Amino acid sequence: MKKYCILLSELWLCAFFLLTGCAGTKGAEEKKSIRIGVSLYRGDDTFLNNIRGELERCAKDFEQEKGVKVTLDIQDAKGNQNTQNDQVERFLALGCDVLCINPVDRTAASVLIDKAMAAQTPVIFFNRQPVAEDINYRGRVFYVGASAEESGRLQGELVAQAWKEEGLDRNGDGVLQYVMLEGEPGHQDSLLRTEYSIEAVTGAGIEVEKLANAPANWNRGQGAARMNQWIKEYGERIEVVFSNNDDMALGAIDALREWGGPMPLVVGVDATAPAREAVAAGDLYGTVLNDARGQAQAMVDLALALADGRDPGGVVELQEGHYVWLPYRRVDRDNLEEIVRELEG
Ligand code: GAL
Ligand code: CA
Repeated sequence: MKKYCILLSELWLCAFFLLTGCAGTKGAEEKKSIRIGVSLYRGDDTFLNNIRGELERCAKDFEQEKGVKVTLDIQDAKGNQNTQNDQVERFLALGCDVLCINPVDRTAASVLIDKAMAAQTPVIFFNRQPVAEDINYRGRVFYVGASAEESGRLQGELVAQAWKEEGLDRNGDGVLQYVMLEGEPGHQDSLLRTEYSIEAVTGAGIEVEKLANAPANWNRGQGAARMNQWIKEYGERIEVVFSNNDDMALGAIDALREWGGPMPLVVGVDATAPAREAVAAGDLYGTVLNDARGQAQAMVDLALALADGRDPGGVVELQEGHYVWLPYRRVDRDNLEEIVRELEG
């Protein structure tokens, strides 16, 4: 009798898992509709707007190709971690199949991971990289991004080339005088672009002198304000403006134009549409393509595989089981047309 009861209860458990699909490790199941919750750290960030557009495009392509409805629920956390935590809770309550999170505070990812894991929902972080312990210590947690170090190096190589070809040494002292516009403090892209851009320049045998550096939080207006200050302090002594992204570089160009003095060389990162125009116009010497399309495509491919219970390693190249890295590309006048054709063509 006892045996019979155990057998019955096991059968019942099996039936329960079959009916609810809650068997922990979901098998491949080819859903007819998929819901993805996306939270952006700020909806007014230029590069993240590119990511948003590309995500929508990728989701639409997939719908058309496969006849599977993909609902992207995209929310703006407006720079507030509490708002983002609430958004994540709402996504989970709505039964989202996968979450794509661009964390406001990249050191606070573990709270979000706890919530998602409790609901057995996989999470893909992007653009703002959580610490390795958060990504690595649990199951279905991923990061899609690009190597910040690589973007710094490529930017530095642009400057090293210009130093050799363009006669930047205005005061003839053999030393490159520069200012550095930094992104948000603590962001991996601020820290590593700042470090490796300069390392690439000094590594090419060029001596440098830093006149000033300050954060302008990825923002064009703040970039212009910092640059105005530096123009007053250093004026014509500035030979190069390094900027951790294009928006701040464009802000620096705004300030330099208003000033009307001799233009230093300005370089950015992202290759946004306005930055590409500035390269074409000769205002921005060069930039580094932050591949919004590639990152969005990888996120959508990964999300759809996870939602269907397919092996994520089958659709994207996973490193250390959790990371998808997209390459950066340097952009200057020489390859601008080719890049524009690829992005806009
Ligand atoms: C960087 C990008 C910046 C800004 C930032 C936001 O990768 O270069 O422009 O979008 O991410 O996290
Ligand atoms: Ca000099």
